[in-house]
Amino acid sequence: MSGIRINPSVLSADFVNMQADLDRIAAADFVHVDVMDNHFVPNLTFGPQMVQRIQETSPVPLDVHLMIDDPERWAPGYAELGAASVTFHLEASSEPVALARRLRAIGARAGVAVKPGTPAESLYDVLDEFDQILVMTVEPGFGGQSFMPETMPKLAALAAEARRHGSAVWLQVDGGISASTIAQAAEAGADTFVAGSAVFGADDPDLAIAALRAGAASAHAHAH
Ligand code: DX5
Ligand code: ZN
Repeated sequence: MSGIRINPSVLSADFVNMQADLDRIAAADFVHVDVMDNHFVPNLTFGPQMVQRIQETSPVPLDVHLMIDDPERWAPGYAELGAASVTFHLEASSEPVALARRLRAIGARAGVAVKPGTPAESLYDVLDEFDQILVMTVEPGFGGQSFMPETMPKLAALAAEARRHGSAVWLQVDGGISASTIAQAAEAGADTFVAGSAVFGADDPDLAIAALRAGAASAHAHAH
């Protein structure tokens, strides 16, 4: 089992005090940045200009999650501004393999995300082209929703398929991850955990990150 990464989502941060909130999550591995276009999902956040400022401000590297149509047009720009990883949705992409290769060529980790209704098998042929796979554990669009345990068999199937490929791909979960749900996701094979409300809703975000990390580590220890 590879390491454990905790990536707080700034969707739950204060958008007009972003710098202060970024400073509160110094214990994070990556800062998860949700870009929404009001087309692929029914919500709107921000685009490259804001993400550029987060990149310049954040003490930890950026994990950009694009919930947008036409990622072929927009995703490379996020890699060019210096994001450590850029994840686009399989459902929105016309050329996922070509786009993954472009992102890697620019120097970012390439990620692909799937909504709860998209089956594991749709990723089997493209697995080796990606550095990380994001299994959405809520319908994308909003923070603060309830974790969907019915997505866990898909995560376990992807973990098994990755092992068959001898792949070092990171398996990420996003949506409803908290101290009470993280063990389920870790046991099913996740190693990278996005948490918005569980981190920024806590009095001490760094303590919340530590609690999530401990929860995932103990689930991994029991699973092996
Ligand atoms: C939802 C976003 C998530 C969101 C998670 O579509 O992709 O990153 O911020 O928020 P929580 O952890 O509150 O479910
Ligand atoms: Zn996200």
